[in-house]
Amino acid sequence: MIRNFSKIPVLIIIVFVFMFLALSNQGCNDHYGNETGKDPDKTLSLPVIHIVFTGEENGYLEPCGCSEGQLGGFAKRQTLINQLRKKDQDLILLSMGDLPGKVGRQEEIKMETALEALGLMDYVAHNIGEKDLNMGIDFLGYLSQISNIEFISSNITGLATRALNIKPYVVKEIKTNETIFKVGILGIVSPALIENEIQDLEVMDPVLSLKPLLSDLNDKTDLLILLSHAEMAESVKIAEEYPELELIISGHMVDRPDLYHQKVNNTYIASVGEKGKYVGNISISLQPKQTSEDNNSFSTAIETIALDEKFADSSDIAMLLGIYQQRLQDEELLAQVFKSDHPSNLSFTGNDDCALCHNSIFKHWEETGHASAYETLVNAEHEYDPECVACHVIGLNYFSGFETTELTPEMKGVGCESCHGPGSDHKDTQSQDYGMVSVENCEICHNPEHSPKFEYKEYWQKIKHPREEKQGGD
Ligand code: HEC
Ligand code: HEC
Ligand code: HEC
Ligand code: HEC
Repeated sequence: MIRNFSKIPVLIIIVFVFMFLALSNQGCNDHYGNETGKDPDKTLSLPVIHIVFTGEENGYLEPCGCSEGQLGGFAKRQTLINQLRKKDQDLILLSMGDLPGKVGRQEEIKMETALEALGLMDYVAHNIGEKDLNMGIDFLGYLSQISNIEFISSNITGLATRALNIKPYVVKEIKTNETIFKVGILGIVSPALIENEIQDLEVMDPVLSLKPLLSDLNDKTDLLILLSHAEMAESVKIAEEYPELELIISGHMVDRPDLYHQKVNNTYIASVGEKGKYVGNISISLQPKQTSEDNNSFSTAIETIALDEKFADSSDIAMLLGIYQQRLQDEELLAQVFKSDHPSNLSFTGNDDCALCHNSIFKHWEETGHASAYETLVNAEHEYDPECVACHVIGLNYFSGFETTELTPEMKGVGCESCHGPGSDHKDTQSQDYGMVSVENCEICHNPEHSPKFEYKEYWQKIKHPREEKQGGD
């Protein structure tokens, strides 16, 4: 029993509870006639608003499954959201921006899929991040028209925005008890993150852009939230400038978002982390404002939930992801992968050629996981996904490497040349100075994301070739 306990250790739900009494409220009577500032127990009867936030998926729709214990994925996310909704109907779901990772057709299909998933989960708003912008105004415009989620940006302006259906903010109404609370949601992207200028589009200084919007919203809303697609320091600056913001959801942080939660004067700053591994959940107990200077949030609990094996994949999203894979196949994206000549100017020949002379090594290799790495993708129904295939075959990004299983069956799997390099020359010369392999070769594929436990000695031991005693033997 005790041993079982030690297996649960990474119950990575890190709960940060900040209970605080808003100074401005001390001694005041709240909406319900309670003396709010003095008796924390009374907070229990106050309406609570739940804000659930994600962002910076950076193109990660799901964990690849390359190693155990990977976090994240939209399918797990929906399961969590459904669980949260069972407890509280009124979740406000917010997306911080940067659904895609890179650019290109696959990324477009991905972004459509991601937005559809957010739609299924009933997100309220998607803030535009710099990677979203990189997809191009035309495509973003198309998405902003078809998506049932509001695209927001408080600091993107210019003629080009005519093609975009974006709003500077949205106001979401939440009915709790007998009161309607209005939550104003704004969003910015830091100009510092914009690398590619877009014609007729300007990304303004957030502090300047927010000023008129906030003064407009402050009287009309009970709670103000900013989705801040910026470095933490910039979000802190915004918090210092605008104490009327109750909450800033900030970005550009890696792995452990909970480490970056902080409070700047009246404003909480929470971060989302990258690749959709975590979901942030904030509960804010409220009372209506007495005056427009009031900070009306009363107590706040921030929770960072790791999307681990505890959450099953939701079937709705699993189906969406299935359609995504089908689209990659239908559009033959594997055939459109960018290819170049190998820097050595040599070409790949495939495992069968090597087997002619290195038969015992070949036979041994056939028994390793490397030989069936392509079949692994077939079993996972990802064999048409260029992002997966790249590491599970020989030379996808080179002209002489893998194309399709029909055209280049000898290039399937992590083959001899995945490690030794193209062998067109060696095949003829049999030169001994071919094919030096070092740990760096392994780490091209065995990187921390896909193979977090990789350790050269240990891994090589598992697959190492038999010594070749005599040539042509075996
Ligand atoms: C950067 C290279 C890389 C990419 C990209 C990649 N993989 Fe992998 N994959 C690996 C490596 C390396 C392993 C072995 C990890 C280990 O054992 O430490 C692996 C293992 C796997 C396994 C487990 C095999 C087993 O026998 O347990 C599956 C399943 C898998 N990958 C599927 C995928 C899918 C699906 C994708 C695309 C979404 C993908 N991979 C993309 C490198 C990659
Ligand atoms: C026509 C026969 C032949 C073919 C085909 C061939 N090799 Fe070789 N290979 C040799 C011979 C002979 C040597 C030198 C062995 C020696 O002298 O130790 C060698 C050496 C090597 C070495 C270096 C070993 C060392 O440290 O000296 C590697 C690595 C290697 N081959 C890999 C491959 C790979 C990968 C392929 C397929 C692309 C391949 N070979 C195809 C015959 C061949
Ligand atoms: C081209 C990408 C690639 C390179 C290079 C690569 N691997 Fe792998 N490796 C994989 C993939 C993909 C898998 C998962 C195979 C599967 O089961 O589908 C894997 C699996 C493994 C495994 C588990 C397989 C088994 O049979 O137990 C070991 C061990 C391993 N790799 C060691 C290494 C070492 C050591 C190197 C460098 C000398 C290396 N790999 C280079 C992609 C690569
Ligand atoms: C996962 C990466 C990897 C793959 C795949 C791989 N090798 Fe190697 N190979 C190595 C490494 C690393 C060494 C150096 C071994 C050492 O340091 O003892 C090596 C050594 C060799 C040698 C020299 C062995 C000796 O006895 O001196 C030959 C020949 C060779 N490989 C051929 C092949 C052939 C043929 C294949 C495909 C059937 C293949 N290798 C697949 C990583 C790989």
